Amino acid sequence: MSSLIDARRLTKIYNVEGVATNALIEANFTIQPGEFVSIMGPSGSGKSTLLNLIGLLDRPTSGQYFFGGEDVADFSDQELTRLRNQKIGFIFQAFHLLPRATVMENVMLPLYYSSVSPREYHHRAQAVLEQIGMSHRLRHLPYQLSGGERQRVAIARALINEPSLVLADEPTGNLDSQNGKMVMDLIDELHEQGHTVIVITHETPTAEYAGRIIKLYDGRIVSDAPAEHTHQHYTK
Ligand SMILES: Nc1ncnc2c1ncn2[C@@H]1O[C@H](COP(=O)(O)OP(=O)(O)OP(=O)(O)O)[C@@H](O)[C@H]1O
Ligand SMILES: [Mg+2]
Repeated sequence: MSSLIDARRLTKIYNVEGVATNALIEANFTIQPGEFVSIMGPSGSGKSTLLNLIGLLDRPTSGQYFFGGEDVADFSDQELTRLRNQKIGFIFQAFHLLPRATVMENVMLPLYYSSVSPREYHHRAQAVLEQIGMSHRLRHLPYQLSGGERQRVAIARALINEPSLVLADEPTGNLDSQNGKMVMDLIDELHEQGHTVIVITHETPTAEYAGRIIKLYDGRIVSDAPAEHTHQHYTK
């Protein structure tokens, strides 16, 4: 089976007013379908930069990125957007829900850009909200939900297109330890259902859900190794 993700000397340099920042330097790694990988490292070490490249939100400055065996450089921006919508679900620290849209509307959002018929929108949204235990809040607006509930809605939205890859950037960063554990348990379940999962975190307990931890420092991968499993000791 070919790798889901294959990065070769993947490099991202940001240029702001003539100043170059080497945010990611020659990263080499592969990720197989069904893996659960955690990305760790201090603030500014390049974690989000790497996740944006993996998630087809950005293109590398140099190096190659193969997604599902295909070189991303061969795709137009439009093709990348389509691929992203079909294959990847995103979960962010700040939830990124639309403030004036209900729980149902937020979850259905990715389907507006898909080939799914509008008749199926409700059906699918109800099913994923059921799956994550939020079917009693369909008509609530985000401000009427707790932080943990908001993140569950964001997870439902990430799942509605049945993505093969789930990417999470500090998904527990705005949550207390109890809600953080609940969210990580949900993400863990997705992995058990067969999704490939990549989670950025500062927190060792969150990282320990993963089978493998990639550590970044100053834009470089400094370690890439199997994780030890001790996540029953989640504290924050
Ligand atoms: N759009 C951008 N333009 C210019 N520089 C950027 C941009 N995005 C990130 N950087 C810089 O690239 C480096 C890596 O940033 P990145 O956001 O990947 O770090 P991070 O590991 O996710 O940090 P944090 O834990 O604080 O989220 C930092 O020095 C940052 O200032
Ligand atoms: Mg970041």
